[in-house]
Amino acid sequence: MHTQVAIIGAGPAGLLLSHLLHLDGIESVLLERQSRAHVEARIRAGVLEQGTVDLLTQTGLGDRLKREGLVHHGIELSFSGARHRIDMSELTGGRTITVYGQHEVVKDLISARLAAGGDIRFDIADVSLEGIDTDRPAVRFNEAGASREISCDFIGGCDGFHGICRQSVPAADLSLFERVYPFGWIGILVEAPPVSDELIYARHEDGFALFSMRSPQLARLYVQCDPQDDIADWPDERIWEALHRRLKSGGDRQLAEGPVLEKVIAAMRSFVAEPMRHGRLFLAGDAAHIVPPTGAKGMNLAIADVHVLSRALSSHFKRGASEGLENYSATCLRRVWKAQRFSWQMTSMLHKIPGGSPFEERVQFAELDHVTSSRAAARALAENYVGTPFE
Ligand code: APR
Ligand code: PHB
Repeated sequence: MHTQVAIIGAGPAGLLLSHLLHLDGIESVLLERQSRAHVEARIRAGVLEQGTVDLLTQTGLGDRLKREGLVHHGIELSFSGARHRIDMSELTGGRTITVYGQHEVVKDLISARLAAGGDIRFDIADVSLEGIDTDRPAVRFNEAGASREISCDFIGGCDGFHGICRQSVPAADLSLFERVYPFGWIGILVEAPPVSDELIYARHEDGFALFSMRSPQLARLYVQCDPQDDIADWPDERIWEALHRRLKSGGDRQLAEGPVLEKVIAAMRSFVAEPMRHGRLFLAGDAAHIVPPTGAKGMNLAIADVHVLSRALSSHFKRGASEGLENYSATCLRRVWKAQRFSWQMTSMLHKIPGGSPFEERVQFAELDHVTSSRAAARALAENYVGTPFE
């Protein structure tokens, strides 16, 4: 069997790549290790940049997003007992962000691909890549107990941070850049009305907290924890106690408690693998880079990558032009590093650094004061938060 593009991984990157290629008349086969139910229920990030919303809308994926997505014009920063609003729309010429869960994007993509007769295979095991240095690569895998092979022109490596695609590149041909942070997040999904109409990023003296949401009835809340902590270390009462204390400042509404529907613990890491291409394998999304969640950039970066990749592949198949493919890695990395810088800045500014010096702490609060009192600094934050241009 042959296809033009074999895609590994049905997260936002792989699914959107197959959708964008289909719109350009390019066929693909998508191989996913997990079941459809699993990927559709996996709760991840929830903030879409303006450019992400525009792309999804322009490519026919905007219906439910428009109905159910919550458009936000600003965010709140809370520190030293007060809340400060960053009016992102006003600072960026009317740009906004939209709160819409990553798994909702995934559901919309899967249904669009299946409605268009797309070839997505779930529950696939033992994927391996062959001949990525040659003109005729192939993917081997196991489907319902049978060994199979698909030859292809290109491979989209969209299998996330723990996938096999990046590992298929010889180590000597990749440069890795990494920072692991000395803190993590414990997050809960709660059935409760919102404490604020907008997201609140709080730097309390005890540590970071974030109020976010998935709908007017579903709150998503996070508190800074030790990266070695286990979920068992954080019974609901401990999380609520931390949230009440850290999110208390300003605002007229009380943080409402409610049934905890889900609880997760996440480590924080910044990571980039360069280049994002090896021969006929193109890495996209978390397979190539990870950001700490503080800047809400992970899913948006994945989407921007496959936008660039689909255009490059279209130019190749339609006009035989190789320039887009040659430039793919450099084009993406320019944007990736800006998002890395921003995510690192937000993370560094908002967390209590275990064992950090009083000097560093004063600098953190000075930075918070700066971004909430200088229009230029607020604008720089807003510009990055709503997202830098796709290309
Ligand atoms: N074979 C097949 N599929 C695989 C394999 C494998 N060996 N390894 C991983 N996968 C699948 C995973 O099950 C997952 O569905 O690849 C998919 C990768 O999806 P994501 O992890 O969602 O990565 P990506 O599409 O790049 O989206 C990035 O996800 O983790 C969040 O914060 C991150 O929001 C960002 C987004
Ligand atoms: C979320 O809603 O899950 C969320 C929002 C903003 C972030 C990170 C996570 O920065």
